[in-house]
Amino acid sequence: MKIASLFKVEGYGVIVTGGASGLGLAYGEALAENGARVTLLDVDKARLDQETARLCSLGQDVRSAVVDVRDTAALDAAVDEAAALYGRLDVVFANAGIDSGPGFVGSWVGEQRERNAEGSLENYTDERWQRVIDINLNGIFRTARAAARHMKPRRSGRIIFTTSVAAYQCEPAIGSAYMAAKAGCAHLMKMVALELAAYQITANAIAPGFFATNIGGGHAKDPGVQAAMGKVMPMHRVGMPDDIKGLALFLSSPASAYLTGQQISIDGGWTLGVAD
Ligand SMILES: NC(=O)c1ccc[n+]([C@@H]2O[C@H](COP(=O)([O-])OP(=O)(O)OC[C@H]3O[C@@H](n4cnc5c(N)ncnc54)[C@H](O)[C@@H]3O)[C@@H](O)[C@H]2O)c1
Repeated sequence: MKIASLFKVEGYGVIVTGGASGLGLAYGEALAENGARVTLLDVDKARLDQETARLCSLGQDVRSAVVDVRDTAALDAAVDEAAALYGRLDVVFANAGIDSGPGFVGSWVGEQRERNAEGSLENYTDERWQRVIDINLNGIFRTARAAARHMKPRRSGRIIFTTSVAAYQCEPAIGSAYMAAKAGCAHLMKMVALELAAYQITANAIAPGFFATNIGGGHAKDPGVQAAMGKVMPMHRVGMPDDIKGLALFLSSPASAYLTGQQISIDGGWTLGVAD
């Protein structure tokens, strides 16, 4: 097999949750740029419309639907609709997620990372906990389940979870529920991989480090935050959404056919330790 055909995704039917922005949009772009047919699902209608129109104007086969991953019926219907339209469902990115605000420290950067009362354990509200778990863990489960219903009968498919380096390394600027949700996602991914391996369906996770997206109100797009975070990164810069496209294409394509149950960190070396 030629190297180029190892990465061929032309004609694939693809769904991305949280596809209107950031990493989900980058996944969608990576696949659509390479000839896949892509459906972006998101709660943000304005951004969905804008990005879908932009990608279609480039000649790409991209459509979208407003879907909240907390709404099982709407999510199932959107997945069914895309699979019926494409006549196949090859790749599903279970990606939608939120950062609900600071944890027990109040900021990512600064001389001293001050403690934050609101995000501390004794004040952490049920409402916040449940919202994060419902989107970042339950939403990922619902997406994987909907994907399996279409992939199992065809005995092929790729389910790609977005976890985080927070799945295994605590980050006090994000908060407890995010840690629990991402660790839960990482282990759920392994269970899904084990269960579906016999059907030639793979499940893997992308665990990003610090990427400049709109998450958490867009703090990661602030040049001051990027410069400060860049200093602690072994590669001396934060991640940009384009940095994730190669891994997304690899995990979607024939190149990774025998790889399953793996969480791959993509973080510029952040979790290796402090270099400089
Ligand atoms: N940016 C980072 O540094 C980073 C690091 C590790 C993990 N992640 C993970 O990457 C994933 C994507 O985040 P991002 O950084 O691209 O953020 P983002 O905010 O740019 O994009 C997330 C998208 O998900 C959508 N969304 C939120 N709640 C939803 C819901 N209930 N149903 C459907 N869509 C919903 C948002 O509208 C948004 O378009 C998340 O799971 C996040 O936890 C991000």
